[in-house]
Amino acid sequence: MSDPTLELPVLRPRLPRAAALAPYLERIDEAGWYTNAGPLHNALRERLAAHFGIAGEGVTLTANGTLGLTLALQAQNPPPGSYCLLPSWTFVATAHAVRQAGLRPFFVDVEPASWAVSPTSALLQVAGAPGPVGAVVAVAPFGAALDLMAWDRFQQASGLAVVIDAAAGFDSLRPGRVPAMVSLHATKALGIGEGGLVVTEDAELSAEIGARTRFGFRGERLATADATNAKLSEYAAAVGHAALDAWPATREAWIGLRGRYEAALAGLSGIELSPGLSGVASSSLVVLARGDAEDSAEALAGQGIGSHPWWGRGCHRQPPFRDCPRAALPVTEALAERSLGLPFHLDMTAGDVERVAAALDRAQRRAAA
Ligand SMILES: Cc1ncc(COP(=O)(O)O)c(C=O)c1O
Repeated sequence: MSDPTLELPVLRPRLPRAAALAPYLERIDEAGWYTNAGPLHNALRERLAAHFGIAGEGVTLTANGTLGLTLALQAQNPPPGSYCLLPSWTFVATAHAVRQAGLRPFFVDVEPASWAVSPTSALLQVAGAPGPVGAVVAVAPFGAALDLMAWDRFQQASGLAVVIDAAAGFDSLRPGRVPAMVSLHATKALGIGEGGLVVTEDAELSAEIGARTRFGFRGERLATADATNAKLSEYAAAVGHAALDAWPATREAWIGLRGRYEAALAGLSGIELSPGLSGVASSSLVVLARGDAEDSAEALAGQGIGSHPWWGRGCHRQPPFRDCPRAALPVTEALAERSLGLPFHLDMTAGDVERVAAALDRAQRRAAA
């Protein structure tokens, strides 16, 4: 996950230590219950629901976030083969999930201020699709909050299936009725290794998504819908509990690190931080730099500092999705060319942050010369 040749890699995940897991692992030993809605799974679901301020039945735990996206789409029964609007400005998992749900990706652009698709622009873009649209996935970029009440209104007005990809949104997400996925991957603010959750205030929809994580079973062993196995095991839930125990301190540490970066980058000309994340615990730091991001990354690597163009050149350029229809993508193209993820991990000192800022400044001056 991190390049050992770099002194400061982009990411260096830190998950709960063995000692913090031990009490939970002992509970698994005692119960002899390893998966299928075990006691740790159910307790974690309640704790996560409390974190999001909703009832436990509104949370579905999943084996990873990508499966959560797929099942949240499928559970709303969009017509098979219909188009699904999604931003190209996202991680490729979003597009994979759309395909897995039996839908056809139609890539649209994001707005320059938010780096996200708004309900208003989605409504306009539906008309530009090459065929019938059945669903929309909105992506919360790097964990920035989206207005889910506005997406609820969009859903009611349009009748389309709507899913929010808030993969990095553990700290910022405020749930609504439209289902939102949060990833618990090791690289996220609350990481458990592999895992995810889908949260919605719509209890019926939540039950539908839950059934689809367990072969379509609802109490008895009868497959009631197209489904898969996306259950979260007791061992993964144990990591989740230990991570949640540490969350107040982890959250403060992420926010503190972001604050140090904001101060260090404030004086640099030509650098912009990704929007909507000030005071939010998120586990990546993406900036818009001057010049081509690949050149900046090379210049930083020369100084032992990892960085990378976060979402590559946009999802529409990834081989499996190159032939998908798309709207004009000028904002995505501009973001893709200039965006750079900088080292962001909880082991970083204030001096490390200063070092990255100084190296970036040098690289930028060279790019401008
Ligand atoms: C925007 C976005 N969507 C989906 C995912 C997929 O989540 P997971 O890795 O838990 O499957 C990620 C993961 O990094 C992501 O960043």
